[in-house]
Amino acid sequence: MEQSKSNQINWFSEYTNTAQKVEKTGQYQPLIEWYDQNYEIFEGGTYAAKKCCQFLHQHIGHSSNLAILDLGCGTGDQGRILSEMGVKGSFYGIDMSLGMLESAKSKGLYKELKQSILPEIPYPDNTFDIVISAGTLCTPGNAPPQSLLEMIRVTKSAGILCFSYRQHWFENEESGWKKIHEEMLETGLMKQLLFKVDNYSMERDISGLFFLCQKC
Ligand SMILES: C[S@@+](CC[C@H](N)C(=O)[O-])C[C@H]1O[C@@H](n2cnc3c(N)ncnc32)[C@H](O)[C@@H]1O
Repeated sequence: MEQSKSNQINWFSEYTNTAQKVEKTGQYQPLIEWYDQNYEIFEGGTYAAKKCCQFLHQHIGHSSNLAILDLGCGTGDQGRILSEMGVKGSFYGIDMSLGMLESAKSKGLYKELKQSILPEIPYPDNTFDIVISAGTLCTPGNAPPQSLLEMIRVTKSAGILCFSYRQHWFENEESGWKKIHEEMLETGLMKQLLFKVDNYSMERDISGLFFLCQKC
């Protein structure tokens, strides 16, 4: 569907307003509706979601039988996008919001959905071939940087981690993300396969960092 740039900006402002309300009130329903409407209108999720999925797809192609964990799965857009791309596997999702999980469940694509607050990931060590997280990590007020250690823990050896960060928050020492991310690379717990700086959202001035890493 054709949409003008100004319409896209309106949608983004609407998102920003509802997201801020969620932070204050914990009321997720308008944001859930925003995600579902956005998916239909802009053909496939937010910028961060689409870019993470493209990055992952570029690397894994049409591999099958993968166990894929989606952290901060929200309304299930990663499951939708990856399935549409032809990625075959079992999708597992965790999110702190029950409303988001209900919406993800309604898509019928996830084998298991669990409520959990990052950094806690309620799965045993070395469980997943792939861990993906779009729009959730390294964002003020969301998951703490220790989440990265947990992500590595639940990923199988040589498994893939694909995720986005907000660049300004990564570069802000207070967030602690850069320190932990670099430690994971320096200590050889993971290695970087692909990296890209790109738009994170429909607003040009929000820049995102997109990573594809491998557990060593
Ligand atoms: C911006 S949304 C992204 C949703 C989805 N990944 C996408 O790209 O469409 C961020 C999601 O992360 C979840 N979230 C934020 N902080 C979290 C935490 N500490 N633990 C678990 N989920 C969290 C929110 O509930 C929300 O569903």
